[in-house]
Parts: sequence; structure tokens; C-alpha cells
Amino acid sequence: MATTASGRQAWRQLMRNTSRGPASSLSKPQPQQQYRFAFSRQVSSKARVASGRAASQPPSSIFRQQQQQQPFAQRSYSSGSQGGKNTPPRNSQQVKFWPFVVVIALGSGGYVLLVNRRKEMPPTDTASSGGSSTPAFSPAEVTVLFVLGGPGAGKGTQCSRLVRDYHFKHLSAGDLLRAEQDRPGSQYGQLIRDCIKNGEIVPMEVTVALLENAMRETIASTGVRKFLIDGFPRKMDQALKFEEIVCPARLVLFYDCPEAEMERRLLERGKTSGRADDNAESIRKRFRTFVETSMPVVDAYDREGRVVKVDATATPDQVYAATVDKLKKALGDKL
Ligand code: C5P
Ligand code: MG
Repeated sequence: MATTASGRQAWRQLMRNTSRGPASSLSKPQPQQQYRFAFSRQVSSKARVASGRAASQPPSSIFRQQQQQQPFAQRSYSSGSQGGKNTPPRNSQQVKFWPFVVVIALGSGGYVLLVNRRKEMPPTDTASSGGSSTPAFSPAEVTVLFVLGGPGAGKGTQCSRLVRDYHFKHLSAGDLLRAEQDRPGSQYGQLIRDCIKNGEIVPMEVTVALLENAMRETIASTGVRKFLIDGFPRKMDQALKFEEIVCPARLVLFYDCPEAEMERRLLERGKTSGRADDNAESIRKRFRTFVETSMPVVDAYDREGRVVKVDATATPDQVYAATVDKLKKALGDKL
């Protein structure tokens, strides 16, 4: 599918950037880098908040499952098929000597070819997410709550109240993507625009990097270390990559709302939001993506007992009261 192919392309591009150093940009490297690419496994020690606990933190079991399912890296090495053409003519006088020379020459040539070809190959997914990474932030020092729910479930509304009362930093994956889409010179602008309009998931490398950068900036500039990550992870690979390299999440706050109610809210919002995806056609696609791709993420966390589910059908005040009540039970009175 287009998204998967473009995802692989984005991954190769990003990995090429990272191989130049830990401070690559989401755009092509520029003197004034606004965004730093965050996927280097050699995150600078200054930027790391990781403590011993992060280093020893075992990957979550959903991550282990995924690792087991990952196929082995497949590289199609040349089998030296040009050997047929180069086979010397049979000559009964040379038969004892030349075959050895030819075999050794072909073997050595093939080996050099393979080594050179391998150097040019991009790293495979397995190599780059082999589970040996240490998250950039320790869950002992940084709290991450994922906030999920269908489009129009009220995630943003509830997050802004939690920010007001409990000093979280609200990071909306959708808002970060829209900002990146509009950033002059972004090489992902068009890709993001297309995905959003069609209700598809943007390749996770882009979204995870934007989130990690935003977390770093927040911690550096405000010292706030409690994050509500809204609208993320929308797909299993986002969850796995984020928990592997950024920070294991404490829990998922899931807003459960019937589709008819969400549709009503989105169409109402669409009158003034100016969003390219708040129209009937995009809404339909977003619902489908949510059911097929995002709900399995909620279900996976639920199996781990990491979901706090709130009924989001009632008024914002009522939903907020239920949210605070349930979060306090899960996290303690101070949240
Ligand atoms: O969360 P929000 O409704 O603002 O997201 C808008 C769009 O941004 C989604 O429909 C999707 O295309 C993209 N998105 C994404 N991955 C995320 C969050 C949003 O691809 N984690
Ligand atoms: Mg939102």
C-alpha cells in the first residue's frame, strides 16, 4: 500500500540522515536546524534523561510479541551469476591448473562485490529496531500518558482541562503533524497532507521524531516532565517504536464514544475548524482507520492492564469528572 511504501522510503531517508550524526533534521540538513531527527541510537548523553531504570527497563510484552513476529532481515545477495559468461574455454592441457585459478578469482571478486554492496545498503528494520535501544527518557523521571479515542471523542478538550489542573504538557500528534506539514521547506509536507486528507496514518518515523523533539524542547524550556500524548499511538508500530526509543508509557487514557456522536461533533467542528479532514468523506475514512488500525492498539494495551477507559458520550464537564476520578485511582491523587 502507498502508506507502507512511503513509510519505507521515509525510514530509509531518515536512517540516512541519522547515519550522518544524531542531530539530523526532519528536513534535509540545513545550517539552522529547526528539528532534530530523533532516531539515533546514540542520543547525546546531555539530552538523555535516561536513568539506570530506563536502561534496565524490560520492553513491554507487546513489544516482545512484535519482536518475535518480526521476520529475519532478508537481503538478496548476488549469487555471482555472471560466472557462466566468464567461464574459460575448456582446454585439456590446462585442466589441472586453470580451474583453480578461475574459482579463486571468481570467489575473491564475488566477496569484494558483496562487501561493497552491503556498505551501500540501508539498515533493515530489524537492525534499526532490534530491541537493544535504550529509551531516551526514563519512566521514573518522565510520565507519559497516551490519550486515545476515535476522531471527535473529545481527547483535546479533556487534555486542556488536565493541563489546567494538573500541569501536564499536552502534545497532540495531529497538531505536530499539521505544524510540520505547514513548515516551509519540510520534505514531509506533502506526504503528511495526503495522509491527513485521506485519514491515513503518517509513517511512524515522522510522528515519533516530532514527539521526541517536542518532549525534549518542553523539558529543556519548562522543566515539565508529565506528558499527555494525544492521538498517539494510532498504529501498533508507533506504539512499539515510541516505547522502545522514547519512553515507556504509564497508561492509555481511552475515550470511548459512539460513532454517531463523534460524527455529529466533527461535522459541527468542521463549520469553523478549517481542517481539511473535518468533512463527511474524510470523517468516514478516519473512522475506518480508527476501527481497523487504532483500536487494535487500545486492545493490546488493554490486555496488559494499561488502559483507563472513560465513557465520552456525556458533556465535557461530566467526562472530565470521570477522567479525574479514574486517573486518581490509577495514578494517585496528585496525578
Ligand atoms: O488526532 P487528529 O485527529 O488531529 O489527527 C489528524 C490526522 O493526523 C489523522 O487522521 C492522521 O492522518 C494523522 N495522524 C497520524 N498519526 C497520529 C496522529 C495523527 O497519522 N499518531
Ligand atoms: Mg485532536
